Amino acid sequence: MMKLSVLTILSLMSILSQPPLSHSIRCNPQDKQVLLKIKQAFNNAYHFASWNPDTDCCYWYIVKCDRKTNRIIDLNVITANISGPIPDAVADLPFLESLTFHKIANLTGTLPRALTKLTHLKSLTISWTNISGPIPSYVSQFKNLTSLDLSFNDLSGPIPASLAQLRGLTGLMLDRNKLTGSIPESFGELPASLQYLDLSHNQLSGSIPKGWGGLNFTTLQLQRNRIEGDASALFGRNKSIQNADLSRNMLEFDLSKVEFPDSLRYLDLNHNRIFGALPAGLAGDTLTFLNVSYNRLCGRIPAGGVLQQMDYSSYFHNKCLCGAPLPDCKSSLQ
Ligand SMILES: *[C@@H]1O[C@H](CO)[C@@H](O)[C@H](O)[C@H]1NC(C)=O
Ligand SMILES: *[C@@H]1O[C@H](CO)[C@@H](O)[C@H](O)[C@H]1NC(C)=O
Ligand SMILES: *[C@@H]1O[C@H](CO)[C@@H](O)[C@H](O)[C@H]1NC(C)=O
Ligand SMILES: *[C@@H]1O[C@H](CO)[C@@H](O)[C@H](O)[C@H]1NC(C)=O
Ligand SMILES: *[C@@H]1O[C@H](CO)[C@@H](O)[C@H](O)[C@H]1NC(C)=O
Ligand SMILES: *[C@@H]1O[C@H](CO)[C@@H](O)[C@H](O)[C@H]1NC(C)=O
Ligand SMILES: *[C@@H]1O[C@H](CO)[C@@H](O)[C@H](O)[C@H]1NC(C)=O
Repeated sequence: MMKLSVLTILSLMSILSQPPLSHSIRCNPQDKQVLLKIKQAFNNAYHFASWNPDTDCCYWYIVKCDRKTNRIIDLNVITANISGPIPDAVADLPFLESLTFHKIANLTGTLPRALTKLTHLKSLTISWTNISGPIPSYVSQFKNLTSLDLSFNDLSGPIPASLAQLRGLTGLMLDRNKLTGSIPESFGELPASLQYLDLSHNQLSGSIPKGWGGLNFTTLQLQRNRIEGDASALFGRNKSIQNADLSRNMLEFDLSKVEFPDSLRYLDLNHNRIFGALPAGLAGDTLTFLNVSYNRLCGRIPAGGVLQQMDYSSYFHNKCLCGAPLPDCKSSLQ
């Protein structure tokens, strides 16, 4: 009697603690085989400990299955102690919509061509790794991509002009690599959906694409490159730019005539060759940060908005800027 009830309880417990019965296993067997190949390619690293072949892969860590089709749609490898190149097997998850490798110092090699098989990809993030080589032009084959983040790697060579063919992009982050050459002219026709563009901390040269006058970025980060010429087309009364960091380039234009939109919150222009005076429009209510130091500006700092609240270091090392927070203007010149 006693024995029986203990057994009953035990068997009940084992039924309750079992993974879903075989007929309710969601995991697609092909996807499971591919995931196990990926795990193996990374030497069965601890990061993949939950990828136990005896369990339903839809319940494994760092992957996600689609609710209806049960195919793997998301692979998200972050701060993992794994090493080696991105395995080609990743490209055999044919329904993948989001692929992330982030903060993996020992991830090396180039971007595998096999990835082009991932036609459903909406988001591709390979950042803070030691991936090297060029940005392959085939990245433009991911027609449904809305976000491409290849920042903080060891990528070199030019930015492929074909990236402008990604018509659904809302964010493009290629910052902190060793990219060279100029921003492709094709970037003058980036999709209107593109809100966030970060090309900062590279070795880009040449001028700003002509078409950028017609685009509406919300955030544009170009700092620490060697970009030259006129950037005034980025601004204008009817633009929607909110954050612009163009610092540490070789930009050279007259700031006096630039009209800044009300949307502008953050403007960093330090270390360029910008001349003229600060326009009165900068003294509006919406700007919260300005740095125009290390340029060739002259004249009185307009009064109002945040301009007098900024530290003097926002203005120092110019030709002859004056007035608060810098010393008074001396002569009638200003
Ligand atoms: C990277 O690899 C080196 C040796 O190859 C190892 O000592 C180190 O722990 C690894 N670092 C990470 C964060 O995986
Ligand atoms: C990474 O894993 C290797 C073994 O694969 C180990 O020797 C090393 O200590 C680990 N590094 C860190 C930072 O955990
Ligand atoms: C690339 O590897 C070097 C050492 O091999 C390491 O110092 C650096 O942090 C790595 N880069 C990234 C972005 O993890
Ligand atoms: C691309 O996105 C559209 C709209 O969301 C969708 O209808 C189409 O099936 C997607 N194509 C692929 C290959 O995923
Ligand atoms: C507003 O922007 C469009 C292009 O997006 C431009 O053609 C037009 O001249 C601009 N209007 C003003 C008043 O700046
Ligand atoms: C930029 O925004 C302005 C005002 O919202 C709009 O008139 C213009 O058509 C937009 N341009 C693009 C390329 O979306
Ligand atoms: C402005 O930029 C200069 C040069 O990078 C820097 O020294 C200064 O601290 C910055 N000032 C502010 C307020 O950010």
